[in-house]
Amino acid sequence: MKASIAVLAGDGIGPEVTTESRRCLAAVARLFHHDFEFLDLPFGGAAIDAHADPLPERTLSACRAADAILLGAIGGPKWSAPDAPLRPEQGLLRLRKELGVFANLRPVIVHPALVDASTLKAEVVRGVDLIFVRELTGGIYFGDKHRDAHSARDVCVYEVTEIERIVRVAARLAQARHGRLTSIDKANVLETSRLWRDVTQRLMAREFPAVHLEHMLVDAAAMHLIHRPRDFDVLVTENMFGDILTDEASMLAGSLGLLPSASLGEGARGVYEPIHGSAPDIAGRNSANPYGAILSAALLLRHSLHLATEAAALEHAVADAISAGALTVDLVSANRRALTTSEAGDAVLSRLPQRA
Ligand code: IPM
Ligand code: MG
Repeated sequence: MKASIAVLAGDGIGPEVTTESRRCLAAVARLFHHDFEFLDLPFGGAAIDAHADPLPERTLSACRAADAILLGAIGGPKWSAPDAPLRPEQGLLRLRKELGVFANLRPVIVHPALVDASTLKAEVVRGVDLIFVRELTGGIYFGDKHRDAHSARDVCVYEVTEIERIVRVAARLAQARHGRLTSIDKANVLETSRLWRDVTQRLMAREFPAVHLEHMLVDAAAMHLIHRPRDFDVLVTENMFGDILTDEASMLAGSLGLLPSASLGEGARGVYEPIHGSAPDIAGRNSANPYGAILSAALLLRHSLHLATEAAALEHAVADAISAGALTVDLVSANRRALTTSEAGDAVLSRLPQRA
């Protein structure tokens, strides 16, 4: 197939890890006889410097025209002064909103070779295989904001239709997995959460009676995630709770650098990015873990291009590389040499099947 992929490498380690995910996509294209066209576009802090806009119009229109968007990471101290007029994060939020990618899938799978890499006990994390479905274009991130000398406020709004569409995505996933859905809210305090709970309860009873639904308060969820993470299958939650809990959940897998994400809307087009940030402290050293970015490329193959075999081949290559101990500094054990970012990319490329 022919596909056009917009590449928004961004800031910090974004370009380094995106180089590797793009190499993997190019290799998959060669191997399986596809024709992928890559288009590099300015985004984030780099775009503030070059164009005084974290999401230049050209970047946005190219993303709209692309089949999928491969994103690295954005941000850094250079653009984070409290009084900064433009922030890289504004570009990311606008991109999500403009493209309508309301469903952010964040799978957390603990690789058997990495059960000792987590700060949690091996017997707690062994076998964890869960997926977060985070609402991505609503809630407190996008409500009215106000600041004056005496006070500040961020308004949290959820429409019924926004809740329904994200819960449907999560319920369909649960149906295809182990049939269990945990909906996370703060219904004991927040009105938006009480709406979330009612809408979820009604929709699940009406449309997905066979999926087992449980409601959990976000504080309890934060605890249970590290207490008994194996009990979870699919978790659905609003934007900010999802942001916080997925960083927490990444530690089950051993490193933030391992986790991919897919942000999807109504159509096939999606935004694919590792969940880690731009890590300015290690940028430019060729030491970042590219596996989260490469696994995001696999999600791109699966969800936007509907190339399930190719996606699985890339995921297997990453799993094989990890099994063989091909690890970057965030994960390597004391007696082994850490691979550089590009060596880790090579380790994956060399484990792709030699022919389709
Ligand atoms: C994420 C990030 C973003 C978010 C930031 C960079 C705006 O933390 O994708 O999880 O909060 O959504
Ligand atoms: Mg986050």
